[in-house]
Amino acid sequence: MKVYFDNAATTPMAPEVITFMAEHMNNLFGNPSSVHGFGRPVRSAIEKARKKIASYVNAQPGEIFFMSGGTEADNFVLIQSVLSLGIKRIITSPIEHHAVEHTVRYIERMGWAKAEWLSVDEKGNISLAELEEKLKSGPLALVSLMHANNEIATMLPLEEAALLCKKYQALFHSDTVQTMGHYTFDLQKIPVDFITASAHKFHGPKGVGFLFVRKGIGLQPFIHGGSQERNMRGGTENVLGILGMEKAMDLAYENLTQHREHILSLKHGMMKGLLEKIPQVRFNGETDPGRSLYTVLNVSLPTEKLDQEMFLFNLDIAGIAASAGSACSSGSQTGSHVLSAIGIPQGYVPVRFSFSRYNNAEEVEYVINKIVEILKINTANVEPSAPKS
Ligand SMILES: Cc1ncc(COP(=O)(O)O)c(C=O)c1O
Repeated sequence: MKVYFDNAATTPMAPEVITFMAEHMNNLFGNPSSVHGFGRPVRSAIEKARKKIASYVNAQPGEIFFMSGGTEADNFVLIQSVLSLGIKRIITSPIEHHAVEHTVRYIERMGWAKAEWLSVDEKGNISLAELEEKLKSGPLALVSLMHANNEIATMLPLEEAALLCKKYQALFHSDTVQTMGHYTFDLQKIPVDFITASAHKFHGPKGVGFLFVRKGIGLQPFIHGGSQERNMRGGTENVLGILGMEKAMDLAYENLTQHREHILSLKHGMMKGLLEKIPQVRFNGETDPGRSLYTVLNVSLPTEKLDQEMFLFNLDIAGIAASAGSACSSGSQTGSHVLSAIGIPQGYVPVRFSFSRYNNAEEVEYVINKIVEILKINTANVEPSAPKS
């Protein structure tokens, strides 16, 4: 059996997305900037996608900018807020994705702005009181806080944080890469200034995403070249990627509740099954369903004998794809900055499992049994029940 429980790293493309993109590969090859009959339909397909995507988050089409994904969009917001809006202070958290964290550190190294780091509790929650204290006591700031953490699932109270930023006239960016396509957004109600999204996290293609910039905020272009994306991002558009993202958004939002219930039942089934068979198991990050991203479960498994790499290797041999945390930091020997920030217990190995609508309960059971087997072979202090398969 092969089980893919690494959907926070990337999701498989929906078959409907693949069909949609394939259909357009032939007939929409013109350059969207060409004014002839091959270019015009491509331009109108892009603008239709922009309109549709904007409607899903209740934004205006002119507030949506297509780009190469979450990393570029995060870089764009942070760097251009500092360079073109005169921001001198960035308030952020130590558990942001590297696309934000490393960019903030780069901005500091360049001497463009100062970073202020909020503290997080043992579940990765920030304190809104601390945010307010910081907002009160300094010059105009950009606040950058992710909607949901990709490693430990902890979610930010987006609306409350946005309202606080508005109260103190700070700009507010939220990296919504893990929540776009999985939660609804009403950007007319939530006063966030920038959000960033990436299609491959919701069964769309890789290398495409979007940035929402609230109307009236005058960011300067990030990539210079042609006049694409209303002069904000030069370069011929990733046409098929944009269309694939549009289709992936359609599929995500048409059946959001159904997908959410299904995925949540897998996550809860996994928690319950693990607790039954391995009572010492711990869950990292927020697990309260109202404040925890339903696609992600970060588990600490009791073993002194296996390190994380060996544990994942054992899972891989059993056909199970899970991860250490952020896929973008795999290969780095420094460990997860997120788990370091919240602290995890000694004698345990942290593993992230992340689910999608294409997973099922049988897979959950298989994975639990394999975990038990791996621990049984390698650890004396676990008394698992017999695996079923
Ligand atoms: C929270 C978060 N932000 C940003 C990114 C980067 O997105 P992309 O892979 O589209 O560059 C990721 C991807 O892992 C992510 O999980």
